[in-house]
Amino acid sequence: MILGIRLLSVLRRSGVESHLVVSRSAEVTLAHETDMKVAELRALADVSYAAADIGAAIASGSFRAMGMIVAPCSVRTMSEIATGVTSTLLTRAADVTLKERRPLVLMVRETPLHLGHLRTMTQLAEMGAVIAPPVPAFYNRPQTIDDLVDHTVGRALDLFGLDAGIVRRWGEPAPAEVLET
Ligand SMILES: Cc1cc2nc3c(=O)[nH]c(=O)nc-3n(C[C@H](O)[C@H](O)[C@H](O)COP(=O)(O)O)c2cc1C
Repeated sequence: MILGIRLLSVLRRSGVESHLVVSRSAEVTLAHETDMKVAELRALADVSYAAADIGAAIASGSFRAMGMIVAPCSVRTMSEIATGVTSTLLTRAADVTLKERRPLVLMVRETPLHLGHLRTMTQLAEMGAVIAPPVPAFYNRPQTIDDLVDHTVGRALDLFGLDAGIVRRWGEPAPAEVLET
């Protein structure tokens, strides 16, 4: 859940308007993985919707958006998007993002993966989605979990042409190296 939380914070800091859908299971996961309340999570977004609100603005392709990130993306949600069965606003908005040919980035969180997961990912990639599991990078020498999260979130935003200044890019000196020179 920390991925989604950080993503919303970074978007806000970058002046990018955010529209949030939180699934019921994500609310449960939030309670397991953080001390944050659902209301606090929702307050990080500019607009927040109930997952059952299938008549919300983001359910329509006429609503203009840069794209969508599902962070984190469960296997259940990934599979639903792949089938086109859009039973909630979350998966409807993802389907709309695909049909409008806007970037859809799925931070699929599961390991190990069975053949069915991999086939679903292939299907989604063929449909135009970006499968971006939150796999940490180590070349940037992360010191904290926040460093790992920032890099992952920043690389997802790269896919939208957004540079939030939280990615230390390959070849750039580490902060310590900057101080030494
Ligand atoms: C603490 C917690 C962690 C979970 N982590 C994962 C996960 O990493 N990947 C996954 O596919 N499902 C995970 N699940 C199970 C999903 O929440 C469950 O499959 C749910 O039906 C997903 O619904 P949603 O896609 O609508 O959010 C987790 C559940 C809990 C309670």
